[in-house]
Amino acid sequence: MLAETTINYPYANLGDTPQAFTAIYQENCNIGIWRQSVPPALVDSLSSAVVDYAFPSLATIVEPEQAKDLILERYSDMTGVEAFADHVALLIDMYCCLFDLNAAGLRLKKLTGAMCPKFHVDHVPCRLVVTYCGVATQWLIEDNIDRTKLGIASAGLTDEQSGICLDHTMIEQMQAGDVALLKGEKWLNNEGRGLVHRSPSAAPDSPRIVMTLDFAR
Ligand SMILES: [Fe+2]
Repeated sequence: MLAETTINYPYANLGDTPQAFTAIYQENCNIGIWRQSVPPALVDSLSSAVVDYAFPSLATIVEPEQAKDLILERYSDMTGVEAFADHVALLIDMYCCLFDLNAAGLRLKKLTGAMCPKFHVDHVPCRLVVTYCGVATQWLIEDNIDRTKLGIASAGLTDEQSGICLDHTMIEQMQAGDVALLKGEKWLNNEGRGLVHRSPSAAPDSPRIVMTLDFAR
C-alpha cells in the first residue's frame, strides 16, 4: 500500500513509514527514504553518547537473527546500546526481507573529521544508508546532475568546480534518523543511472555514526 507515501521528486520516494522502501522496485525510483525512522530520542542519546565514546568500527556479514547480540556485544559499554541494537536489528531484518537475503553486509563507523565528500554513484545493487547522528547524506535529483562529470571526469576537481551538480542550492539533504535505500549501478538495468550522492564531513564536536547495509547472500 503506497497511500502513506508521497512521490516528491522524479526518481525519489519519501515517506514516514517503511512503505517508502517498496517503491525501490519501480524502475523509475532511485531512492526510497523512510524519514525519521530512528526515534528522535535515540538520535539525541547517541549524539551525546558518542562524543566521548570511541565507537569501534564494525564490518561483517550478519544474519538477521544474530544482529542484536552482535551489536550488544560490540558496543556493550556504550550508553543506550539496547535501543541502538534493537533499531539496527530491525533494519537488518527489513533489508533482508525486502531483498530476499539470508544475510547482509553490515558496516558501522564513527566519522569525526573531513572526508573527501565528492558526489558519486555506488557500484552495488542497492545500499541502505542511515546516519544515526551527525550531518547526514546529501543526494541529487536527476534533473540536477551532469552525469558526464562523474568519476574520472572530475579527477582533481571539487564538486563545485566539476559541474556535476547544476544547481548547488538544490542539493537534497537527509537528516539524522532518516533511513534510505540508494539504488546503485549494479541493480538490473540501472547502469549509468545510479543515485548520485555524497557523505558530508563531520564536525569534530558532532561526530557522525553511519551504518550501511549491502547484499551479502
Ligand atoms: Fe556512496
